[in-house]
Amino acid sequence: MLSIQSVTKTYGKKDNKFTALDNVSADFEAGTTNAIIGKSGSGKSTMLHIMTGLDRPSSGDIKDGEASIFQKTDTDKWRGENVGIIFQSFFLQGNDSVVENVALPLKLKGVNRRARNKQAMEALEQVGLLDKAKNKAKDLSGGQKQRVAIARALVTKPKILVADEPTGNLDSENGAAVENLLFELNQKLGTTLLIVTHDLDLAKRCSRVIFLKDGQVKKDIAKKHHDEGEKNA
Ligand SMILES: Nc1ncnc2c1ncn2[C@@H]1O[C@H](COP(=O)(O)OP(=O)(O)O)[C@@H](O)[C@H]1O
Ligand SMILES: [Mg+2]
Repeated sequence: MLSIQSVTKTYGKKDNKFTALDNVSADFEAGTTNAIIGKSGSGKSTMLHIMTGLDRPSSGDIKDGEASIFQKTDTDKWRGENVGIIFQSFFLQGNDSVVENVALPLKLKGVNRRARNKQAMEALEQVGLLDKAKNKAKDLSGGQKQRVAIARALVTKPKILVADEPTGNLDSENGAAVENLLFELNQKLGTTLLIVTHDLDLAKRCSRVIFLKDGQVKKDIAKKHHDEGEKNA
């Protein structure tokens, strides 16, 4: 279980002080699907950055099980081993090939070239992009780039997949394909999903929806059974 515990995040000092997250707490059970929704500026990205250790809270803590991701462990190592992150802007290396982009997290972990190529090709197969493996990343369409970013996030088989507006830059067809892929990973591998989205239909597919407003959790709605929720939706 991943927990965000009484996290407050402030930016700036004195007169310029701004509270982006205000005493946010939530537990995310392994294998669950979770949506975080809220207006622009409500603190969604800040919450994801802190929950993945990319940013530090001003107060409060993030725990993976019993252990703080900041105190006991090397945070970057923890992230590399446990978390896949899909950003809204894809952050691909345009001049590198698709397969090189996907293999990058494995390279950072010191996996040898042959093994990382094999795993990257498997991840590309999962997102339906095997035929583009040798292409330069910059030559792909928006939807294809997003799928490369997803392949790169899942190539390490993370137990937690975090996505910041994963369908925000996509047309409805590509968006639906990306969505289905995320939920497939949850069902097949038990990957915990944490998805920031503006898309209420996507949020409804999740077993849990957290509404943020002005850095605070305003609603936290968990469905008992996914199927039940779908019927009532
Ligand atoms: N590095 C920063 N310095 C100052 N303010 C920031 C910084 N990052 C985010 N903020 C502010 O914190 C608030 C929450 O931002 P963010 O988490 O990106 O919102 P969201 O993802 O919901 O649109 C916004 O008002 C934003 O301007
Ligand atoms: Mg954001």
